[in-house]
Amino acid sequence: MTVREILKMGDPRLLRFAKEVTDFDSDTLHLLVSDLLDTMRAANGAGLAAPQIGVDLQVVVFGSGEANPRYPDRELVPRTVLVNPVITPINDATDNDWEGCLSVPGMRGMVPRFTHIRYTGFDPYGDPIDRTVDGFHARVVQHECDHLWGKLYPMRMTDFSQFGFTEVLFPGLVDTQDD
Ligand code: NI
Repeated sequence: MTVREILKMGDPRLLRFAKEVTDFDSDTLHLLVSDLLDTMRAANGAGLAAPQIGVDLQVVVFGSGEANPRYPDRELVPRTVLVNPVITPINDATDNDWEGCLSVPGMRGMVPRFTHIRYTGFDPYGDPIDRTVDGFHARVVQHECDHLWGKLYPMRMTDFSQFGFTEVLFPGLVDTQDD
Protein backbone atom coordinates (compact mmCIF):
# COMPACT_ATOMS: atom_id res chain seq x y z
CA MET A 1 0.00 0.00 0.00
CA THR A 2 1.51 3.26 -1.12
CA VAL A 3 -0.27 6.54 -0.64
CA ARG A 4 1.39 9.04 -2.91
CA GLU A 5 1.64 12.80 -2.62
CA ILE A 6 -1.04 14.59 -4.65
CA LEU A 7 0.23 17.52 -6.70
CA LYS A 8 -1.56 20.83 -6.26
CA MET A 9 -2.67 23.37 -8.84
CA GLY A 10 0.29 25.47 -9.90
CA ASP A 11 2.54 22.46 -10.41
CA PRO A 12 3.43 22.40 -14.12
CA ARG A 13 3.18 18.58 -14.16
CA LEU A 14 -0.60 19.02 -13.94
CA LEU A 15 -0.61 20.92 -17.23
CA ARG A 16 0.92 18.28 -19.47
CA PHE A 17 -0.89 16.26 -22.11
CA ALA A 18 -0.23 12.78 -20.71
CA LYS A 19 1.34 10.01 -22.78
CA GLU A 20 -0.59 6.97 -23.97
CA VAL A 21 0.09 3.66 -22.25
CA THR A 22 1.68 1.23 -24.70
CA ASP A 23 2.58 -1.63 -22.36
CA PHE A 24 -0.50 -3.31 -20.84
CA ASP A 25 -0.56 -5.90 -18.05
CA SER A 26 2.90 -4.85 -16.91
CA ASP A 27 4.22 -4.73 -13.35
CA THR A 28 4.74 -0.99 -13.77
CA LEU A 29 1.15 -0.36 -14.81
CA HIS A 30 -0.33 -2.58 -12.08
CA LEU A 31 1.81 -0.81 -9.48
CA LEU A 32 0.65 2.57 -10.75
CA VAL A 33 -3.00 1.49 -10.57
CA SER A 34 -2.48 0.15 -7.04
CA ASP A 35 -0.94 3.44 -5.93
CA LEU A 36 -3.75 5.44 -7.58
CA LEU A 37 -6.43 3.39 -5.81
CA ASP A 38 -4.62 3.57 -2.45
CA THR A 39 -4.15 7.31 -2.78
CA MET A 40 -7.74 7.90 -3.90
CA ARG A 41 -9.11 5.94 -0.97
CA ALA A 42 -6.80 7.60 1.55
CA ALA A 43 -7.87 11.04 0.30
CA ASN A 44 -11.53 10.05 0.16
CA GLY A 45 -11.64 11.02 -3.50
CA ALA A 46 -14.25 10.27 -6.13
CA GLY A 47 -11.47 9.72 -8.63
CA LEU A 48 -7.80 10.28 -9.31
CA ALA A 49 -5.65 10.65 -12.41
CA ALA A 50 -2.02 9.56 -12.84
CA PRO A 51 -0.78 13.13 -13.49
CA GLN A 52 -2.03 14.08 -10.01
CA ILE A 53 0.67 11.84 -8.52
CA GLY A 54 3.21 13.07 -11.05
CA VAL A 55 2.98 10.18 -13.50
CA ASP A 56 2.75 11.31 -17.12
CA LEU A 57 0.49 8.52 -18.39
CA GLN A 58 -3.15 8.30 -19.50
CA VAL A 59 -4.51 6.36 -16.53
CA VAL A 60 -7.45 7.35 -14.31
CA VAL A 61 -9.35 5.62 -11.52
CA PHE A 62 -12.80 6.57 -10.29
CA GLY A 63 -15.89 5.27 -8.57
CA SER A 64 -16.37 3.22 -5.48
CA GLY A 65 -19.11 0.80 -6.42
CA GLU A 66 -20.58 1.42 -2.98
CA ALA A 67 -23.26 3.75 -1.73
CA ASN A 68 -21.81 6.85 -0.15
CA PRO A 69 -23.95 7.94 2.83
CA ARG A 70 -22.87 11.54 2.29
CA TYR A 71 -24.23 11.50 -1.26
CA PRO A 72 -27.40 9.42 -1.03
CA ASP A 73 -28.85 11.04 -4.13
CA ARG A 74 -25.89 10.31 -6.33
CA GLU A 75 -25.92 7.27 -8.53
CA LEU A 76 -23.36 4.56 -7.98
CA VAL A 77 -20.31 4.77 -10.16
CA PRO A 78 -18.57 1.43 -10.59
CA ARG A 79 -14.97 1.19 -9.49
CA THR A 80 -13.15 1.68 -12.77
CA VAL A 81 -9.56 1.82 -13.98
CA LEU A 82 -9.51 3.48 -17.40
CA VAL A 83 -6.45 3.64 -19.63
CA ASN A 84 -6.05 5.72 -22.82
CA PRO A 85 -9.61 7.06 -22.65
CA VAL A 86 -11.57 8.73 -25.41
CA ILE A 87 -14.71 10.71 -24.58
CA THR A 88 -17.41 11.44 -27.13
CA PRO A 89 -20.40 13.62 -26.20
CA ILE A 90 -23.69 12.03 -27.26
CA ASN A 91 -25.25 15.45 -27.92
CA ASP A 92 -24.76 19.11 -27.02
CA ALA A 93 -26.67 18.97 -23.72
CA THR A 94 -24.74 20.23 -20.71
CA ASP A 95 -25.49 20.74 -17.07
CA ASN A 96 -23.86 22.59 -14.20
CA ASP A 97 -22.88 21.16 -10.85
CA TRP A 98 -20.36 21.70 -8.08
CA GLU A 99 -16.98 20.04 -8.38
CA GLY A 100 -13.98 19.75 -6.16
CA CYS A 101 -10.53 18.40 -6.89
CA LEU A 102 -7.82 16.86 -4.72
CA SER A 103 -5.36 19.11 -6.58
CA VAL A 104 -7.42 22.19 -5.65
CA PRO A 105 -8.01 21.43 -1.97
CA GLY A 106 -10.64 23.19 0.07
CA MET A 107 -12.49 24.73 -2.86
CA ARG A 108 -15.59 24.13 -4.96
CA GLY A 109 -16.69 25.52 -8.28
CA MET A 110 -19.69 25.27 -10.57
CA VAL A 111 -18.61 23.50 -13.75
CA PRO A 112 -20.52 22.90 -16.98
CA ARG A 113 -20.10 19.37 -18.38
CA PHE A 114 -21.70 17.31 -21.12
CA THR A 115 -24.69 15.47 -19.71
CA HIS A 116 -24.44 12.35 -21.88
CA ILE A 117 -21.17 10.84 -23.02
CA ARG A 118 -19.74 7.68 -24.43
CA TYR A 119 -16.32 6.76 -23.15
CA THR A 120 -13.99 4.12 -24.44
CA GLY A 121 -10.57 2.93 -23.40
CA PHE A 122 -8.93 -0.09 -21.84
CA ASP A 123 -8.53 -1.74 -18.48
CA PRO A 124 -4.97 -2.44 -17.24
CA TYR A 125 -4.99 -5.83 -18.97
CA GLY A 126 -5.74 -4.25 -22.33
CA ASP A 127 -9.37 -5.34 -22.46
CA PRO A 128 -11.66 -2.72 -24.00
CA ILE A 129 -14.10 -0.60 -22.01
CA ASP A 130 -17.05 1.01 -23.83
CA ARG A 131 -19.79 2.71 -21.82
CA THR A 132 -22.51 5.26 -22.47
CA VAL A 133 -23.37 7.15 -19.29
CA ASP A 134 -24.95 10.34 -18.01
CA GLY A 135 -25.27 12.47 -14.90
CA PHE A 136 -22.73 12.18 -12.10
CA HIS A 137 -20.95 9.25 -13.73
CA ALA A 138 -20.43 11.31 -16.90
CA ARG A 139 -19.23 14.28 -14.84
CA VAL A 140 -16.65 12.25 -12.92
CA VAL A 141 -15.24 10.74 -16.11
CA GLN A 142 -14.95 14.16 -17.77
CA HIS A 143 -13.26 15.62 -14.68
CA GLU A 144 -10.73 12.78 -14.36
CA CYS A 145 -9.93 12.57 -18.06
CA ASP A 146 -9.43 16.34 -18.15
CA HIS A 147 -6.43 15.77 -15.87
CA LEU A 148 -4.89 13.78 -18.75
CA TRP A 149 -5.22 16.74 -21.09
CA GLY A 150 -3.71 19.18 -18.59
CA LYS A 151 -7.06 20.71 -17.59
CA LEU A 152 -8.17 21.44 -14.03
CA TYR A 153 -11.82 22.17 -13.36
CA PRO A 154 -11.36 25.94 -12.84
CA MET A 155 -10.19 26.05 -16.47
CA ARG A 156 -13.65 24.74 -17.47
CA MET A 157 -15.62 27.22 -15.38
CA THR A 158 -17.69 30.00 -16.94
CA ASP A 159 -19.08 31.73 -13.83
CA PHE A 160 -16.49 32.65 -11.23
CA SER A 161 -19.14 34.03 -8.90
CA GLN A 162 -19.76 30.35 -8.14
CA PHE A 163 -16.24 29.49 -7.04
CA GLY A 164 -15.05 29.55 -3.46
CA PHE A 165 -13.93 27.83 -0.32
CA THR A 166 -15.92 24.75 0.63
CA GLU A 167 -16.22 25.82 4.27
CA VAL A 168 -17.79 29.11 3.20
CA LEU A 169 -20.01 27.79 0.40
CA PHE A 170 -21.21 24.76 2.37
CA PRO A 171 -20.74 25.53 6.07
CA GLY A 172 -22.58 22.42 7.19
CA LEU A 173 -20.47 20.07 5.11
CA VAL A 174 -17.99 18.54 7.53
CA ASP A 175 -16.74 15.64 5.51
CA THR A 176 -16.16 16.42 1.88
CA GLN A 177 -15.27 14.42 -1.17
CA ASP A 178 -13.12 15.71 -3.97
CA ASP A 179 -12.67 14.42 -7.47
NI1 NI B 1 -9.41 16.48 -10.00
